[in-house]
Amino acid sequence: MSKVCIIVGSRHNGNSSHLAKILKERLKKERIIADIITPGNQKIYLCTGCMDCDVNGHCDFKDDMTDNIQKIINADTLIFITPDRWNLLSGDLKIFMDRLNPLYTSKKLEGKKMVSIVIGSKDKAEYSTEAALTSLNSFADASNMKLIYSHQFNNCLEGTDILEQQEEIDNVVNELIKIIK
Ligand SMILES: Cc1cc2nc3c(=O)[nH]c(=O)nc-3n(C[C@H](O)[C@H](O)[C@H](O)COP(=O)(O)O)c2cc1C
Repeated sequence: MSKVCIIVGSRHNGNSSHLAKILKERLKKERIIADIITPGNQKIYLCTGCMDCDVNGHCDFKDDMTDNIQKIINADTLIFITPDRWNLLSGDLKIFMDRLNPLYTSKKLEGKKMVSIVIGSKDKAEYSTEAALTSLNSFADASNMKLIYSHQFNNCLEGTDILEQQEEIDNVVNELIKIIK
């Protein structure tokens, strides 16, 4: 059975979190189990760049990444959802991704399916969500994951604005279910 990990780049109970919960519920109906990880609500030390993980394949920090890494290893599909922050991905998500370096160096991300979703407040043409998506997608590329789906939600400023875009959410969720199943 397919296992999914949804990583939410916003600790705010807002658009990213709403989308993750909708996705988890819809996947459950398809008998696909999804864990949600919200790095901003966890204890995660910043990567110091010591590169020890390049040599021994793990990080010496003892924090919530120990559990997270196990969940990532067990997942077939990783879904990254981030709010756009100054045209980039959120700091919370970047801190999390830096700490995945042990899995990158030990090639344990290879072959996993990856999905990237960016949510921004502006119109697509203005302060584009493109750069955040490019950053996430280059992570998939570097770690030899299979990027199976990307999407940008725009015009989501207030924390519930995404819920006004029900048709778009439905399309994204239906598409994802088809690919992940
Ligand atoms: C510090 C900061 C920077 C932001 N920068 C952008 C941006 O460059 N482009 C954009 O479209 N929205 C930007 N936003 C708005 C958020 O992306 C938007 O409100 C998003 O829906 C928030 O997601 P959340 O509710 O999951 O936290 C920014 C918000 C914050 C707090």
